[in-house]
Amino acid sequence: MGMKIIGTGSCLPQTVVTNDDLSKIMDTSDEWISSRTGIRERHLVKEETTTSMSVEAARRAMENAGVTAQEIDLIIVGTLSADHVTPACACEVQAAIGAQDAVAFDINAACSGFMFALNIAHAYLQMGVYKTVLILGAETLSKIMDWNDRSTCVLFGDGAGAVVVCADERDRMLAYDQGSDGVRGSVLACKNRTNNNPLVQTGVEPEYVHMDGQEVYKFAVTAVPASLSKTIKAAGLSVEDIDYFALHQANIRIIQSVAKRLKVSEDKFPISLDHCGNISAASVPILLDEINRKGLLKPGMKIALSGFGGGLTWASAVIEW
Ligand code: UT7
Repeated sequence: MGMKIIGTGSCLPQTVVTNDDLSKIMDTSDEWISSRTGIRERHLVKEETTTSMSVEAARRAMENAGVTAQEIDLIIVGTLSADHVTPACACEVQAAIGAQDAVAFDINAACSGFMFALNIAHAYLQMGVYKTVLILGAETLSKIMDWNDRSTCVLFGDGAGAVVVCADERDRMLAYDQGSDGVRGSVLACKNRTNNNPLVQTGVEPEYVHMDGQEVYKFAVTAVPASLSKTIKAAGLSVEDIDYFALHQANIRIIQSVAKRLKVSEDKFPISLDHCGNISAASVPILLDEINRKGLLKPGMKIALSGFGGGLTWASAVIEW
């Protein structure tokens, strides 16, 4: 048994914060942010939460797929910024949409979280365990940013994206690749669970996100093209056969570098980072939803997906639409 994507959905918070807005509260500028990253604005939560955005994205994806909540038998949310330690965001989504027969859990693979969740869903479907799966990437990164660290906080945004996949005799997941490198994990970290139990009492304050941007940049521009090349080859295709490359939206320069290394036109790399910033696990499903709703995806098209980031982690897939 194989897997087929049958619907997409997404949800961004209502409030848009431009680079000029940020320049009024910290020492930065639209010129610096847009020329270094391609980001012009991002959406940040006020009332919204990781769960509320996930629920809205899930409803839109189910409507797009034409499935009811009763048909969903598995919900996986890729997130590093769930609203609580427990219950999981996926369980809260289950309750809110009324998918009472679903099994629900979160996974944390940072910016690769949605891709890892997609691969988990694929494995379950291949084994015949489940039939219809709701997969989300959802983040409220603004709550784990250090708003005094201009080198990181300007890069990130909040939002949620979702896909519905179902079991199908013909597998539209043509190939995938995923990997982790915990040895280099400290280059992108958020160590915000210190233990202050009575035996330890470190008094250490929880940390916000810390990133060595240049090290992450170097990792991305080597790991992503290597993973994509491997996956495309495993699918029995060449880069010319790929209609779109839907990559994690961290930095336009990373995407341009990947396009150059693969010798593919940048036109094949749709972009959402200009208006969303980097939304970690939510980047890929939001982008997929945007290009789906623009009518760019036609049956039979081959799409390469890739996520990369904290852990370090990375994951790519080639799917047929
Ligand atoms: O999803 C996870 C994946 N994350 C990524 O892929 C991030 C990868 N890394 C990057 O995208 C880039 O490294 C950044 C966009 C984060 C930074 O770009 P950079 O070209 O590596 O800049 P830099 O860190 O070398 O900083 C250059 C200068 C520094 O000033 P000096 O030391 O040259 O005087 C910074 O202090 O830019 C300064 N700077 C800023 N200036 C204005 C840093 N942040 C800002 C800012 N506004 N927001």
